[in-house]
Amino acid sequence: MRTDEADILSEKEVADRLTTKWAGRKIYYLDNTDSTNTAAKQYAEQGAPHGTTVIADMQTKGRGRRGREWQSPSGRAVYMTIMLRPDFSPNKAPMLTLVMALSVTQAIYDIIGLRAGIKWPNDIVLNAKKVCGILTEMSTESDCVKHVVIGVGINANNDSTEEFSEEIRQKATSLKIESGIHVIRAELIERVLYYFEKNYDTFVRSLDLSGIMDEYSERLINRGAKVRVLEPQGEYSGVARGINASGELLVEKENGEIVQVYAGEVSVRGIYGYV
Ligand code: BTN
Repeated sequence: MRTDEADILSEKEVADRLTTKWAGRKIYYLDNTDSTNTAAKQYAEQGAPHGTTVIADMQTKGRGRRGREWQSPSGRAVYMTIMLRPDFSPNKAPMLTLVMALSVTQAIYDIIGLRAGIKWPNDIVLNAKKVCGILTEMSTESDCVKHVVIGVGINANNDSTEEFSEEIRQKATSLKIESGIHVIRAELIERVLYYFEKNYDTFVRSLDLSGIMDEYSERLINRGAKVRVLEPQGEYSGVARGINASGELLVEKENGEIVQVYAGEVSVRGIYGYV
């Protein structure tokens, strides 16, 4: 039986497990930081190499998508950010979020044996509740990518949903709540880095998601489900059919027309509840 004591998070605990070529080959572990994404950008500015990974036990200003806060208490969750120095144009970078989403579901399967789903584009879901969020941020200079940071927050060892704030309690869960397994965070981080390196290397060969889109689509919980697309120009409903090689969600409208929905522009809501 695993105990809390075995879940020690440090640079060494992760580094000793790594089998990757470049992902996480430079690790910064911080007991406490404002945001691992912010820290990773600072290390990037100081010249840190491609694949540098920042891990923290807690964050004081954890950031979510759409300017939201990401609650980041100590001892329970994974807060990690990988920094990349890609050699492609900025318009390719949003696809990296989907590359990471697939990698996290693969890592979760190895650690707790459950098949997590993906709520397009990048929420990881177990039993219709969110267990992980991903925030990708990019720094550019004269239409070139200087660096990209991909931050991952995984609720790992929360014992009950009571530990979450009231606003997210209904729609959040943890790996432990769903599986009963107390996760060794360093093992989970190693798995995420392992799969991310593999999937990223596939991605850069074609510079699209063609090499991983079937695996991604298999995990898409919206697939075949009715979704509501909220665009600046208006709203419409349809049925989600999967993603294309650019990571756009294919939504079939009632008249049979297939619309390609780009993540940056719209919000897709399930008709029922969170998913
Ligand atoms: C979301 O809103 O779903 C994205 C949440 C991303 C949270 C992670 S935790 C590690 C990294 N550091 C941050 O400040 N945010 C990301």
